[in-house]
Amino acid sequence: MTQDELKTLVGQAALRYVVPGEIVGVGTGSTVNKFIDALATIKDQVKGAVSSSEASTAKLKALGITVFDANDVGELAVYIDGADEIDGLGHMVKGGGAALTREKIVAAQSRQFVCIADESKLVQTLGQFPLPVEVIPMSSNRLVRQFAAMGGQAKLRLKDGQPLVTDNGQYILDVTGLQISDPVAFENQVSQWPGVVTVGVFALQKAHVCLLGTAQGVKTLEF
Ligand code: 5RP
Repeated sequence: MTQDELKTLVGQAALRYVVPGEIVGVGTGSTVNKFIDALATIKDQVKGAVSSSEASTAKLKALGITVFDANDVGELAVYIDGADEIDGLGHMVKGGGAALTREKIVAAQSRQFVCIADESKLVQTLGQFPLPVEVIPMSSNRLVRQFAAMGGQAKLRLKDGQPLVTDNGQYILDVTGLQISDPVAFENQVSQWPGVVTVGVFALQKAHVCLLGTAQGVKTLEF
């Protein structure tokens, strides 16, 4: 099975976590796009979605799914999103699609986080994938130095030769060279650095379930 087929498989499998009549939290990325396609087939059974990015909002609306503002709704039953890495305890690295801040917000508003991913995302220790960190532009060079002091190489994410600007008007640093052996401590530490909007380690908002696409089918991991 190709990686794309595995993404389709887990996107469809996530439908069983969608609660009829409720609003579902929707993440961002190519795997989530498969989930949105699947969600469109049962759109009459849900009230709508809270989205984690302009990209997902556009796709949801194009498929006729109502998108609610996070501030206009209460707690969500479930949040469905992909990951760049997930470990055996449900801790993740996210933000490859630059949507990490809104993803963390919607995850925090949801009772259950269901991660959908192909098996290439499962890792022993987080840190192989360059860690995305959303930062306030004026702090970016100082934060590059701060990551260097802990052994990481941080690079400003570019798009068309210019700093990529997120949906929130901020920049992204991608940090390599980190071994994140204690994700909770790491998230707590880096989140406090002035200028950091959101660190892409999701340990405090970790997954409760991961639907992992494998050659043998969908494997359900519960944390
Ligand atoms: C976006 C994310 C995505 O969930 C993550 O990058 C995985 O994306 P994909 O499903 O395309 O592999 O965190 O900010």
